[in-house]
Amino acid sequence: MTAFPPGFFDRTDDTDDNEFYAFDRFVTHIDEGAIAAVGALYTELELTGDVLDLCSSWISHFEASPATMTALGMNGAELEANPMATSHVVHDLNADPVLPFAHDSFDAVTCCVSVDYLTRPLEVFADVTRVLRPRGQFVCSFSNRCFPTKAIRGWLRTDDQGHCEIVATYFREVDGFDEPTVQHRNPGAPGDPLYAVWASLL
Ligand SMILES: C[S@@+](CC[C@H](N)C(=O)[O-])C[C@H]1O[C@@H](n2cnc3c(N)ncnc32)[C@H](O)[C@@H]1O
Repeated sequence: MTAFPPGFFDRTDDTDDNEFYAFDRFVTHIDEGAIAAVGALYTELELTGDVLDLCSSWISHFEASPATMTALGMNGAELEANPMATSHVVHDLNADPVLPFAHDSFDAVTCCVSVDYLTRPLEVFADVTRVLRPRGQFVCSFSNRCFPTKAIRGWLRTDDQGHCEIVATYFREVDGFDEPTVQHRNPGAPGDPLYAVWASLL
């Protein structure tokens, strides 16, 4: 079923993610221009309803707060400090890729600069289709840096275009999404590049 070779989802540091993320990181992982590009995309896609932000932290990059935003990530202090979050949950998607939410809970799901840390992405993407409402959108965005010991091997072994292909393949491998859109959102920008791959429920 899978398009990915053995070892693709392995990581250098395969210790429990709770250990790595126990340390608070109140930092930005992309520069201001890339953050603005994420916010502009969310506005363009009209992510204004009930949103789930996967692999979230203290910042979610929306230009305006959606109606509700549930922040799911690994560090409770960071999630607690997220000003856009109306609720938050600490949940390890690598230990348990089933999202702790009912069917049809969200209008949109986002995942910013984090899809490369998922070791069971097909299970997560499949469960996103369960929690999304009809025509709901799943938006993944990423740049060109990461915590290398925690990123999957397949991600580290390719380039920006390869990363876009990996994420597009995740969408195509699970049932329920339409054909993903793949875009470089800030071509020519002097700082961090920002790529996005997104699709809607069929
Ligand atoms: C590079 S940070 C990005 C944070 C935020 N999305 C942003 O745009 O700044 C990676 C995030 O992924 C989350 N994360 C890493 N591994 C995870 C896992 N196994 N399950 C859930 N979240 C995870 C961490 O809590 C961390 O907040």
